[in-house]
Amino acid sequence: MKILLGSDHGGLRLKAEIKELLKEMGILYEDVGCDCDDSVDYPDYAQPVAEKVANGEFDLGILICGTGIGMSIAANKVKGIRCAVVSDEFSARMSREHNNANILALGERVVGPDLAKSIVRAWLSAEFQGNRHERRVKKIHALEGSE
Ligand code: RB5
Repeated sequence: MKILLGSDHGGLRLKAEIKELLKEMGILYEDVGCDCDDSVDYPDYAQPVAEKVANGEFDLGILICGTGIGMSIAANKVKGIRCAVVSDEFSARMSREHNNANILALGERVVGPDLAKSIVRAWLSAEFQGNRHERRVKKIHALEGSE
């Protein structure tokens, strides 16, 4: 499994923590930036992550900004993306099991590093349950005209 990460300046510190976790878990990742504290625009990082997950270059994506909201709104504009902004473990699991979320958005100003790591672990260990959920996910993509 290969994960693509991205953040703005508001998610930079939490992104570093998540990278450490992925290393510990032995999961391959790449990071599209940003790399410094300068104020940047989150859509510039959501876009490459969303496009590379949508085209299959990466299996999953993780986007981090101050709240996770801007990243999720931007990522969900890309066809094929199901980005869930999550701040608890239960929602993280459900976003995979029921919604087949392919990008997780986190807010550094919302969740602390330990909770964020638990969320990432829960998200990565959950699997899409298919069946009736498959039908619903297809209906989501019908809304964007991609299926
Ligand atoms: C940046 O100040 C902040 O707006 C951004 O990180 C994010 O929270 C937007 O949704």
